[in-house]
Amino acid sequence: METPRHFIDLHHIDSGVLQRILEVAKELKAARRQGGRPKLLEGRTLAMIFEKNSTRTRVSFEVAMLELGGNVLSFSSGELQLGRGETVADTARVLSRYVDAIMLRCHAHRTLEELAGAAAIPVINGLTNGCHPCQIMADLMTFEEKRGPAAGKTFAWVGDGNNMANTFIAAAGQFGLTLRLACPPQLAPSQGMIKWARERGATVTLTENPVRAVAGADAVITDTWVSMGDRDTETRYELLAPYQVNAALMAQAGKDALFMHCLPAHRGEEVTAEVIDGPQSAVWDEAENRLHVQKAILLWCLHAL
Ligand code: CP
Ligand code: NVA
Repeated sequence: METPRHFIDLHHIDSGVLQRILEVAKELKAARRQGGRPKLLEGRTLAMIFEKNSTRTRVSFEVAMLELGGNVLSFSSGELQLGRGETVADTARVLSRYVDAIMLRCHAHRTLEELAGAAAIPVINGLTNGCHPCQIMADLMTFEEKRGPAAGKTFAWVGDGNNMANTFIAAAGQFGLTLRLACPPQLAPSQGMIKWARERGATVTLTENPVRAVAGADAVITDTWVSMGDRDTETRYELLAPYQVNAALMAQAGKDALFMHCLPAHRGEEVTAEVIDGPQSAVWDEAENRLHVQKAILLWCLHAL
């Protein structure tokens, strides 16, 4: 049996495929603006399983699949037999007999790998504690729409070295962008991912100093200080307070720097209202582009690209 085309993390997918997904996403977006909604996945069904809350991922995948002519089934993990101890692998084997692809949002990245390992159909990462590849694809699409090719541009990550930060490091390796991360040492991103991206020729630097990271950057990116499943809330607020993205920090970035955030945001914490609601903010386009990029991801996974 041929291995299904899983979309688990950016660093395990061919960079040419990732580029192609971005191109197709841009084409689908342009077509949709003209009223075009090609039914390329007619009769195909996507099952979505959520261990954690979601607004964008859930709605954009559902609309993507419906607009492509397919169907969607959406569950919280607790309402499946998974919630009563049926194994992830058995769930994968059973769903593989009913549907054409599975999207999972879960805590442990290992759970997603277990699902993919036992599934006969493609499995898509809807966010794990390790990474959030669909989001970063939408972010790159957004950046490129506004500023041209991401390759060679400088992205500054400021704040928690979390799942989003780790996926940006993978993107640096795959898309040739320069990435400067500013994180408290206690919340540093994966050294293994940094090593991987550097071995691919990417320039990835890690500092504790947010001003150094954003100096002259083309994009400034941050994320919530408390990700889903994080418990050490008070310590995090203390450690991350110096990493707030505010007008003073944005002033250190390039003149045309974009502000980016995957959302949901917490105004007054990781970003001020002035910045996220200001003219440099690209956050609503990032959210919209989830729809277009995930259509292209679904098409690639289901051999319809
Ligand atoms: N950015 C993102 O994945 O949002 P949701 O948690 O709402 O899906
Ligand atoms: N880092 C955040 C991203 C939410 C989309 C989290 O994992 O909760």
